[in-house]
Amino acid sequence: MNNIKQVYLNGEFVPADTAQVSAFDRGFIFGDGVYEVIPVFGGRSFRLEHHLQRLDNSLKALGITLDMTRQQWSDMLDKLAGDDSGDQYIYMQVTRGPAPRDHVFPASSKPTVFAYATPLKYPDDTTLANGVNAVTAEDIRWLRCDIKAIALLAAVMLREQAKQQGAVEAILLRDHMLTEGAASNIFIVKNNVIATPGKGRYILPGITRDLVVELAQANNVAMEERDITEAEVFDADEVWLTSSTKEILPITTIDGKPVGSGKPGAMHEKMFAIYRQYKQDFRDGKVD
Ligand code: PDD
Repeated sequence: MNNIKQVYLNGEFVPADTAQVSAFDRGFIFGDGVYEVIPVFGGRSFRLEHHLQRLDNSLKALGITLDMTRQQWSDMLDKLAGDDSGDQYIYMQVTRGPAPRDHVFPASSKPTVFAYATPLKYPDDTTLANGVNAVTAEDIRWLRCDIKAIALLAAVMLREQAKQQGAVEAILLRDHMLTEGAASNIFIVKNNVIATPGKGRYILPGITRDLVVELAQANNVAMEERDITEAEVFDADEVWLTSSTKEILPITTIDGKPVGSGKPGAMHEKMFAIYRQYKQDFRDGKVD
């Protein structure tokens, strides 16, 4: 099925093909759980504290309590990453655990904690040089998109819809306002000003998004977090998507129409260079 040999499951490291979860797990029955995707470079988890904080927020929103300390998370992630010097990512999820089927929370249940590491392949140079196609779609998701929930049916349908239309991402619109991508955050650039929707219930607070905002501010690049209309998306000079597995990727067509010049723009080049430098500094141990 894949090349993953070892996984972490409920406190143990076990061979992937023998790992077992109860068929009554509420993650399986209800999609009752949360997840994280953390990039790992040279064995070190990138923006670990940000990811663990977001995981905490998601768990808290669902009322799942887990007695795992930061140190325990960190040790587990280090062990999963092993001594691989390349780029990997760790997928981890926590569900409410097995219980008799009833929508209401069980009086007590033991959360299921699952994680694995796998190589991370960023978009190649040709993709970066050309950018990617996106389509717009109505944001059919729920009103708690700030929770990184494993219940991803809408995102699965939207990504598939995008693929059928020859695109890699669906740019989501709620009442003609930009929210985010089905599996990424979205930025626009107009007249050298970068903008992205503000945080709230309609978007996932992406760790990559936050870093791009932080790096723009630190480098005196004009950056706005604000409401963005559908018309602004189509009128933008540049549009990007960001995520832990795609970094900052230029979108060069939307619904078959070119974005700006139809090529990745100068602002992308600038911010991507800053971002890559930050990652290099992380690898070199210069930033946490
Ligand atoms: N998805 N918005 C949504 C809906 C996402 O699913 C993701 C990431 C992001 C970007 O968040 P971050 O920068 O923290 O990766 C925004 C992950 C990568 C996934 O589901 O595989």
